[in-house]
Amino acid sequence: MPANEKNFIKDNIELLCCPKCRGYLVLEKQNLTCQNCAQNYSISDHIPRLFWPNEWDPAKEDVTEKIKTFYEETPFPDYDDFDNVGSLIEKSRQGIFAKLLDDQIPYGARILECGCGTGQLTNFLSVSNRIVIGTDICINSLQMAQNFKDKNELHNAQFIQMNLFRPCFKSDRFDLVICNGVLHHTSDPLLGFKSLSRLVKPRGYILIGLYHKYGRIYTDIRRFLFRISKDKLKFLDRRTINKNISKAKRKAWFTDQYKNPHESKHTIGEVLHWLDDSGFSFVKSIPKPVPFEGFHETEKLFQPDTPGTKLTRIMVESSKILTGSGEGGFFIVIAKKTSPA
Ligand SMILES: C[S@@+](CC[C@H](N)C(=O)[O-])C[C@H]1O[C@@H](n2cnc3c(N)ncnc32)[C@H](O)[C@@H]1O
Ligand SMILES: [Zn+2]
Repeated sequence: MPANEKNFIKDNIELLCCPKCRGYLVLEKQNLTCQNCAQNYSISDHIPRLFWPNEWDPAKEDVTEKIKTFYEETPFPDYDDFDNVGSLIEKSRQGIFAKLLDDQIPYGARILECGCGTGQLTNFLSVSNRIVIGTDICINSLQMAQNFKDKNELHNAQFIQMNLFRPCFKSDRFDLVICNGVLHHTSDPLLGFKSLSRLVKPRGYILIGLYHKYGRIYTDIRRFLFRISKDKLKFLDRRTINKNISKAKRKAWFTDQYKNPHESKHTIGEVLHWLDDSGFSFVKSIPKPVPFEGFHETEKLFQPDTPGTKLTRIMVESSKILTGSGEGGFFIVIAKKTSPA
């Protein structure tokens, strides 16, 4: 294990806890051991293996293993063949949202990304002197994230295998917790949100990206057409035929969007209830919860907007039936922890 990995865990050991019993962990050689229940967790290929299963009542549906197997086969979003830190920065900053995050999250912030996949956002945000920890259940994705980090010497990024329902972090530790495109691939998105919300510091932020109930309609139609045409109509999704994207990355997109074994869909109104239940207040959403209010390149991501009213949200959200909502049918909510959960 290179010195910097070992130091990262050693220097940040006070953030960690046992995902099984939440006891203190100690670092011994290549292992983390729980002082309370004596459970041992290895650190291999530079990645601490702190995954612990949900252990829910057997009557409750649990898709974790199914989803893990799926993403182990097709890590998402994968890298383009020529990617390096320069192209990562360039591509990430082409997306207005990642650019705004990079511009507006203070240096020195401590960020946790849950369900980081192949780690693009974690690696990107770590370039500007922030501590960024990327976690996922899928080892193949984490390995790709780690390879990129090693090749580009991104010392402020750390990857850890973790199930977001059984976090290996103590409560109230992060300035920002990001969970983008993940909760809708779990059996219980609200429970997942509550689990993540505990990790946010008081007055810290959470950022959630979810499939939208109406924005996803076009993807659903395409999925149906692909199924009945045995994927002959694949070209209807422009990204799957975009030659500027590597073959592996196009395949990862197609599989993630159209062959995923589990996804759910949500609304801004629903997430507002999640926030109320967990001691968070609404800060921002994309799309904005009020009609005719666009999202601008100068947007202040952490400056509170109005959450709108039921009526304004219905107007904005139902318009997605006509417009979709960009590739993937996504929406994003940012919220601030205003009282302990
Ligand atoms: C669609 S990918 C999103 C990846 C990345 N956030 C992005 O936006 O490109 C979903 C990721 O969530 C991860 N995931 C699913 N269930 C999880 C869980 N219970 N705990 C942690 N990660 C999970 C999957 O392994 C997968 O890498
Ligand atoms: Zn323990």
